[in-house]
Amino acid sequence: MSDGALVVDNIGLLITNDPSLGHGPLGQLDDASVVIEDDTVVAVGPAGAVADVRIDAEGACVLPGFVDSHTHLVFAGDRAEEFTARMAGQPYDGGGIRVTTDATRSASTTTLDRLVQARLGEAHRAGTTTIEIKSGYGLNIDDEARTLEIASAHSDETTFLGAHLVPTEYQSRVDEYVDLVCGPMLERAAPHARWIDAFCEVGAFDVDQCRAVLEAGRAAGLGLRLHGNQLGVSGGVRLAVECGCASVDHCTYLDDADIDALAGSDTVATFLPAADFSTRQQYPDARRVLDAGVTVAIASNCNPGSSYTTSISFCLALAVREMGMTIDEAVYAATAGGASALRRHDVGRLSIGAKGHLVILDAPTHHHLAYRPGVPLIRQTIGPLARYNI
Ligand code: NIG
Repeated sequence: MSDGALVVDNIGLLITNDPSLGHGPLGQLDDASVVIEDDTVVAVGPAGAVADVRIDAEGACVLPGFVDSHTHLVFAGDRAEEFTARMAGQPYDGGGIRVTTDATRSASTTTLDRLVQARLGEAHRAGTTTIEIKSGYGLNIDDEARTLEIASAHSDETTFLGAHLVPTEYQSRVDEYVDLVCGPMLERAAPHARWIDAFCEVGAFDVDQCRAVLEAGRAAGLGLRLHGNQLGVSGGVRLAVECGCASVDHCTYLDDADIDALAGSDTVATFLPAADFSTRQQYPDARRVLDAGVTVAIASNCNPGSSYTTSISFCLALAVREMGMTIDEAVYAATAGGASALRRHDVGRLSIGAKGHLVILDAPTHHHLAYRPGVPLIRQTIGPLARYNI
């Protein structure tokens, strides 16, 4: 083994997500080891492999690091008062996005960057190793470009979300704002983004406006994703499928036609159960979606309005308890499913050639992630966000 190789040894249960390596859809192995060299898995096999550095998992469960394919990490301020009012009966309508936009525009770049780094440290400690970061709290040319530039310093998975909400200064000129997003704002944002996204919802942007945003993004070379069907059957899911989006996110309200459309497509349905928790929406029926053969992801949606958490374990427990997913399905959705939502094959699995990004649990099986909700079961995370763990 060459210099710098690391072995995680004495793994009681290893989840590889590669059925060719072990039993079941999660490719499970008992008494295993994983060898990592240059950030890449070079061997998966029985316990006892040798390398320069050894981490003893002491019989615990090891799984791929979580792939959090939906966050809005670049923001200032919080909306605890809005949450408190919601818990007293106020509905969520997304209007608070403007409150966070004001706070974010007023914050210095240094402050925003420091806040993002702190949130990445939190995500690392919660087991996340790949994280997507959206803009969407700038909503003007300079602040969308600025927040994306901050995001792109920390992640390759960055998303331009100028079409998050119409900002106050454009409230009676929605079409003008959409033209701005599709033109000069996109031009400044695109160099810092891999993806484009839009919020397709009553009160945000309608199907035609979102289509225009997605097509402009495609023409600028960006991959497509969409917020759809969060607060009602918005037409977002079908638009996402029509446009070939990598993922449509939320999917809280789905009718039969939505599920049929997803089933005949490559678009991943990404569920954000912590948002349904925090906004007191119903939970989506993930069982129906899975049974239709749709690829499913689970993500945190970390943002100050609808889902102020970086804990994928929390999301996973909700998905199992409230959405009809088995624990195996939920763990797969939060790892390999997230990778599919980002069209990545190098993360979300622990097979040879994949990134050596993994989580060592303080538990003998991955089932404990749902069985012991709220308990910090992430003993150690090995992945690129370790540098934020200060
Ligand atoms: O994905 N729904 C739109 N965007 C975020 C919420 C943003 C906010 O309320 O600040 C979401 O839930």
